[in-house]
Amino acid sequence: MLDLIKSRKSVRKYSDKHIPDEDLRKILEAGRLAPSWMNVQSWKFILVKSQENKDLLSELSCGQAHVKNADALIVCVADTDAWEEAKITHISKPALNPALQGENGILIRTLEQVIYPISYMMLEAESLNVKSCIIGALGNEITGVLPDVYIKVKEKLGLSKNQILSTIITLGYEAEHTETTKTRKDFDSVVSLEKIGNKF
Ligand SMILES: Cc1cc2nc3c(=O)[nH]c(=O)nc-3n(C[C@H](O)[C@H](O)[C@H](O)COP(=O)(O)O)c2cc1C
Repeated sequence: MLDLIKSRKSVRKYSDKHIPDEDLRKILEAGRLAPSWMNVQSWKFILVKSQENKDLLSELSCGQAHVKNADALIVCVADTDAWEEAKITHISKPALNPALQGENGILIRTLEQVIYPISYMMLEAESLNVKSCIIGALGNEITGVLPDVYIKVKEKLGLSKNQILSTIITLGYEAEHTETTKTRKDFDSVVSLEKIGNKF
Protein backbone atom coordinates (compact mmCIF):
# COMPACT_ATOMS: atom_id res chain seq x y z
CA MET A 1 0.00 0.00 0.00
CA LEU A 2 2.78 2.44 0.87
CA ASP A 3 4.39 1.81 -2.54
CA LEU A 4 1.05 2.65 -4.19
CA ILE A 5 0.79 5.84 -2.15
CA LYS A 6 4.34 6.76 -3.11
CA SER A 7 3.75 6.15 -6.81
CA ARG A 8 0.51 8.17 -6.98
CA LYS A 9 0.79 11.69 -8.30
CA SER A 10 -1.61 14.18 -9.80
CA VAL A 11 -1.69 13.69 -13.56
CA ARG A 12 -3.14 16.41 -15.75
CA LYS A 13 -2.29 15.20 -19.28
CA TYR A 14 -4.08 12.13 -20.57
CA SER A 15 -3.83 9.86 -23.59
CA ASP A 16 -6.82 9.00 -25.80
CA LYS A 17 -7.05 5.47 -24.39
CA HIS A 18 -10.36 4.70 -22.70
CA ILE A 19 -10.68 3.22 -19.23
CA PRO A 20 -12.71 -0.03 -19.36
CA ASP A 21 -16.07 0.15 -17.58
CA GLU A 22 -14.95 -2.77 -15.44
CA ASP A 23 -12.11 -0.67 -14.00
CA LEU A 24 -14.35 2.39 -13.55
CA ARG A 25 -16.68 0.15 -11.57
CA LYS A 26 -13.82 -1.02 -9.34
CA ILE A 27 -12.82 2.58 -8.65
CA LEU A 28 -16.40 3.56 -7.77
CA GLU A 29 -16.80 0.45 -5.64
CA ALA A 30 -13.74 1.47 -3.62
CA GLY A 31 -15.51 4.75 -2.90
CA ARG A 32 -18.76 3.06 -1.98
CA LEU A 33 -16.98 0.92 0.61
CA ALA A 34 -15.34 3.83 2.45
CA PRO A 35 -16.04 4.40 6.14
CA SER A 36 -18.22 7.21 7.46
CA TRP A 37 -19.51 8.60 10.74
CA MET A 38 -22.22 6.21 12.03
CA ASN A 39 -22.06 4.65 8.58
CA VAL A 40 -24.20 7.49 7.23
CA GLN A 41 -22.56 7.34 3.75
CA SER A 42 -23.48 10.93 3.00
CA TRP A 43 -22.22 10.85 -0.57
CA LYS A 44 -23.16 10.27 -4.19
CA PHE A 45 -20.78 9.68 -7.09
CA ILE A 46 -21.65 10.61 -10.65
CA LEU A 47 -19.58 9.05 -13.39
CA VAL A 48 -19.22 11.45 -16.30
CA LYS A 49 -18.03 10.27 -19.70
CA SER A 50 -19.82 12.59 -22.13
CA GLN A 51 -17.84 15.47 -23.63
CA GLU A 52 -20.80 17.78 -23.11
CA ASN A 53 -20.76 17.28 -19.33
CA LYS A 54 -16.96 17.34 -19.17
CA ASP A 55 -16.94 20.72 -20.92
CA LEU A 56 -19.55 22.09 -18.52
CA LEU A 57 -17.59 20.80 -15.50
CA SER A 58 -14.36 22.27 -16.89
CA GLU A 59 -16.16 25.62 -17.03
CA LEU A 60 -17.24 25.14 -13.39
CA SER A 61 -13.58 24.38 -12.54
CA CYS A 62 -12.52 27.83 -13.74
CA GLY A 63 -11.57 26.44 -17.17
CA GLN A 64 -9.12 23.73 -16.04
CA ALA A 65 -8.18 21.89 -19.24
CA HIS A 66 -7.60 18.48 -17.63
CA VAL A 67 -11.25 18.38 -16.60
CA LYS A 68 -12.38 18.39 -20.21
CA ASN A 69 -9.45 16.27 -21.47
CA ALA A 70 -9.78 13.46 -18.94
CA ASP A 71 -11.21 10.19 -20.15
CA ALA A 72 -13.77 10.16 -17.34
CA LEU A 73 -14.71 12.19 -14.29
CA ILE A 74 -16.17 11.23 -10.97
CA VAL A 75 -18.27 14.03 -9.56
CA CYS A 76 -18.31 13.65 -5.77
CA VAL A 77 -21.39 14.94 -4.06
CA ALA A 78 -21.81 15.69 -0.36
CA ASP A 79 -25.40 14.83 0.54
CA THR A 80 -26.46 16.79 3.63
CA ASP A 81 -29.86 15.06 3.65
CA ALA A 82 -28.23 11.74 4.52
CA TRP A 83 -28.15 12.49 8.27
CA GLU A 84 -31.88 13.10 8.37
CA GLU A 85 -32.53 10.05 6.21
CA ALA A 86 -30.39 7.85 8.49
CA LYS A 87 -32.81 8.69 11.34
CA ILE A 88 -30.19 8.50 14.08
CA THR A 89 -32.53 9.27 16.97
CA HIS A 90 -31.01 7.01 19.61
CA ILE A 91 -27.93 9.23 20.03
CA SER A 92 -29.04 12.47 21.66
CA LYS A 93 -25.66 14.10 22.38
CA PRO A 94 -24.71 16.61 19.64
CA ALA A 95 -21.00 15.77 20.07
CA LEU A 96 -21.73 12.19 19.04
CA ASN A 97 -24.42 12.88 16.45
CA PRO A 98 -23.64 15.31 13.60
CA ALA A 99 -27.37 15.49 12.77
CA LEU A 100 -27.71 17.56 15.96
CA GLN A 101 -24.80 19.90 15.24
CA GLY A 102 -26.79 22.57 13.41
CA GLU A 103 -26.74 23.56 9.76
CA ASN A 104 -23.07 24.55 9.74
CA GLY A 105 -21.99 21.44 11.66
CA ILE A 106 -23.91 19.18 9.30
CA LEU A 107 -22.35 20.93 6.31
CA ILE A 108 -18.81 20.54 7.64
CA ARG A 109 -19.35 16.91 8.66
CA THR A 110 -20.89 16.03 5.31
CA LEU A 111 -17.96 17.56 3.41
CA GLU A 112 -15.58 15.77 5.77
CA GLN A 113 -17.11 12.36 4.99
CA VAL A 114 -16.60 12.66 1.21
CA ILE A 115 -12.83 12.91 1.61
CA TYR A 116 -12.57 9.23 2.56
CA PRO A 117 -14.17 7.75 -0.58
CA ILE A 118 -12.20 10.22 -2.68
CA SER A 119 -8.95 8.93 -1.22
CA TYR A 120 -10.05 5.32 -1.67
CA MET A 121 -11.02 5.93 -5.31
CA MET A 122 -7.73 7.65 -6.10
CA LEU A 123 -5.75 4.75 -4.70
CA GLU A 124 -7.86 2.11 -6.42
CA ALA A 125 -7.35 4.05 -9.69
CA GLU A 126 -3.60 4.10 -9.09
CA SER A 127 -3.61 0.34 -8.50
CA LEU A 128 -5.20 -0.05 -11.95
CA ASN A 129 -2.64 2.33 -13.49
CA VAL A 130 -5.41 4.88 -14.05
CA LYS A 131 -4.07 8.34 -13.20
CA SER A 132 -6.10 11.00 -11.46
CA CYS A 133 -6.26 14.54 -10.20
CA ILE A 134 -8.49 15.99 -7.50
CA ILE A 135 -10.31 19.15 -8.52
CA GLY A 136 -11.33 21.36 -5.65
CA ALA A 137 -11.12 24.72 -7.38
CA LEU A 138 -14.67 24.99 -8.60
CA GLY A 139 -17.90 26.85 -8.11
CA ASN A 140 -20.20 25.47 -5.40
CA GLU A 141 -21.97 26.50 -2.19
CA ILE A 142 -18.61 26.76 -0.40
CA THR A 143 -16.65 28.95 -2.81
CA GLY A 144 -19.65 30.90 -4.11
CA VAL A 145 -17.86 31.46 -7.44
CA LEU A 146 -19.44 30.93 -10.88
CA PRO A 147 -22.99 30.75 -9.45
CA ASP A 148 -24.68 30.70 -12.87
CA VAL A 149 -22.56 27.78 -14.11
CA TYR A 150 -23.13 25.96 -10.84
CA ILE A 151 -26.92 26.27 -11.14
CA LYS A 152 -26.63 24.85 -14.66
CA VAL A 153 -24.42 21.96 -13.45
CA LYS A 154 -26.75 21.09 -10.56
CA GLU A 155 -29.70 20.95 -12.92
CA LYS A 156 -27.83 18.93 -15.56
CA LEU A 157 -26.51 16.39 -13.03
CA GLY A 158 -29.81 16.18 -11.16
CA LEU A 159 -28.52 17.47 -7.82
CA SER A 160 -31.03 18.61 -5.21
CA LYS A 161 -30.69 21.79 -3.13
CA ASN A 162 -29.03 19.82 -0.33
CA GLN A 163 -26.57 17.96 -2.52
CA ILE A 164 -23.28 19.83 -2.83
CA LEU A 165 -20.79 19.18 -5.60
CA SER A 166 -17.67 19.08 -3.44
CA THR A 167 -14.97 17.62 -5.68
CA ILE A 168 -14.26 16.23 -9.13
CA ILE A 169 -11.81 13.40 -9.74
CA THR A 170 -10.31 13.40 -13.23
CA LEU A 171 -9.32 9.99 -14.56
CA GLY A 172 -7.27 8.79 -17.52
CA TYR A 173 -4.07 7.15 -18.67
CA GLU A 174 -0.94 9.25 -18.55
CA ALA A 175 -0.08 10.87 -21.91
CA GLU A 176 3.63 10.46 -21.26
CA HIS A 177 5.36 8.90 -18.31
CA THR A 178 6.92 11.30 -15.84
CA GLU A 179 8.77 10.43 -12.65
CA THR A 180 6.89 10.85 -9.38
CA THR A 181 8.59 13.38 -7.19
CA LYS A 182 6.94 13.90 -3.82
CA THR A 183 7.33 17.38 -2.43
CA ARG A 184 6.26 16.94 1.15
CA LYS A 185 7.15 18.32 4.55
CA ASP A 186 9.71 16.26 6.51
CA PHE A 187 8.43 13.34 8.57
CA ASP A 188 9.54 15.00 11.82
CA SER A 189 7.86 18.28 11.03
CA VAL A 190 4.42 16.63 10.72
CA VAL A 191 4.75 13.63 13.07
CA SER A 192 5.27 13.86 16.84
CA LEU A 193 5.25 11.41 19.71
CA GLU A 194 2.84 12.38 22.50
CA LYS A 195 3.36 16.14 22.01
CA ILE A 196 4.07 18.46 19.09
CA GLY A 197 7.81 18.72 18.59
CA ASN A 198 8.73 15.38 20.24
CA LYS A 199 10.33 13.08 17.67
CA PHE A 200 8.96 9.62 17.04
C1 LIG B 1 -8.70 19.15 -1.89
C2 LIG B 1 -7.79 19.25 -3.09
C3 LIG B 1 -8.09 20.13 -4.11
C4 LIG B 1 -7.29 20.20 -5.26
N1 LIG B 1 -7.67 21.00 -6.30
C5 LIG B 1 -6.97 20.97 -7.45
C6 LIG B 1 -7.44 21.66 -8.60
O1 LIG B 1 -8.48 22.32 -8.58
N2 LIG B 1 -6.72 21.55 -9.73
C7 LIG B 1 -5.58 20.78 -9.83
O2 LIG B 1 -5.01 20.70 -10.91
N3 LIG B 1 -5.10 20.12 -8.76
C8 LIG B 1 -5.77 20.17 -7.58
N4 LIG B 1 -5.35 19.43 -6.50
C9 LIG B 1 -4.12 18.61 -6.61
C10 LIG B 1 -2.97 19.17 -5.77
O3 LIG B 1 -2.44 20.31 -6.39
C11 LIG B 1 -1.89 18.08 -5.60
O4 LIG B 1 -2.47 16.95 -4.98
C12 LIG B 1 -0.71 18.54 -4.77
O5 LIG B 1 -0.02 19.57 -5.41
C13 LIG B 1 0.27 17.41 -4.46
O6 LIG B 1 0.74 16.81 -5.67
P1 LIG B 1 0.54 15.25 -5.98
O7 LIG B 1 -0.93 14.97 -5.97
O8 LIG B 1 1.14 15.06 -7.34
O9 LIG B 1 1.25 14.47 -4.93
C14 LIG B 1 -6.13 19.37 -5.34
C15 LIG B 1 -5.83 18.49 -4.30
C16 LIG B 1 -6.65 18.40 -3.21
C17 LIG B 1 -6.34 17.38 -2.14
